[in-house]
Amino acid sequence: MKEKIKSIEQEINSFEINDLAILEKFRIEFLGSKNKLKDLFGELKTVPNEEKKEVGQLLNGLRTLAEAKFNNLKDSLENNSQESSSIDTSRPGEISEIGARHPLMQVRSEIIEIFSRIGYTVSEGPEIEDDWHNFTALNFPPEHPARDMQDTFFVESDKGEMALRTHTSSVQVRVMENQKPPIRTISPGRVYRNEAISARAHCFFHQVEGLYIDKNVSFADLKQTLLYFAKEMFGENAQIRLRPSYFPFTEPSAEVDVSCTICNSKGCNVCKYSGWLEILGCGMVDPAVLESCGIDSKEYSGFAFGMGIERITQLKYKVNDLRLYSENDVRFLKQFTGNI
Ligand code: DAH
Repeated sequence: MKEKIKSIEQEINSFEINDLAILEKFRIEFLGSKNKLKDLFGELKTVPNEEKKEVGQLLNGLRTLAEAKFNNLKDSLENNSQESSSIDTSRPGEISEIGARHPLMQVRSEIIEIFSRIGYTVSEGPEIEDDWHNFTALNFPPEHPARDMQDTFFVESDKGEMALRTHTSSVQVRVMENQKPPIRTISPGRVYRNEAISARAHCFFHQVEGLYIDKNVSFADLKQTLLYFAKEMFGENAQIRLRPSYFPFTEPSAEVDVSCTICNSKGCNVCKYSGWLEILGCGMVDPAVLESCGIDSKEYSGFAFGMGIERITQLKYKVNDLRLYSENDVRFLKQFTGNI
């Protein structure tokens, strides 16, 4: 009898159960209405009286063992099957949206990078500016018609009348007032003009000003610097041409065109069939401006240039409406995902 109990105990212990169907078999065999233990309990009456107690205890232990194994496995198998039904590991993952840097900021970074490779630092100045830095030091005399070139937003402040800067040229004045030559710096920033908003004009936009002051700086240095910039920004085949122009703060002054990147100078509606696109204004810093900022114009000369970031972005990415830059339409912005 004891041997039979031992062998059933072994059977219970070695019974391998890894799913609910096998567990049910186990239950029928050891705990069901016709289970194996019942036969042994039936045989108990044949056991000699003095052994009955001991054998009875062994049989009860056997039942407890079978019940414990059944209950443990039932719990863990049921939990597993619940988990696996609530998590479908074959479902495709949810794609998280990747943000994009604003195209103007991408191009701003690229311009900074291009000029930093040839030693230019970055300088910044305030967006609310006084008349001196925005106009007077840059050779715009009071009442001079040149002031009308740039329609200005004026602001009343405790320092008197101030203006939202109309260009980043104001920063070159601040840099020259505070630093001694040699100076090689660019100044990116937002500028404001009182203009009706349309596809081609906006009341705020972004510029990058460039300034280089040293001994013996020539117009040839200016041309070569701008050609380097055009090739880095628009590709090795880019060409530039300079047309004489007028700015109060430079003499001589020029406007710079780059060969049309859209039609490879063959002529298209963007370049109005000329093969050229205007990208910036530049010139040799007027000696009067150097003197206004405390730099000896007999010892030093320099060049300056100013470009619109919106304009460069338009040419690089073929954006044909300025308003797109500030409307925050994700369909527009998403197209710049994955760029730097
Ligand atoms: N400040 C000019 C503008 O807003 C751009 C410009 C032209 C800047 C010539 C310069 C320059 O430094 O030399 O239209």
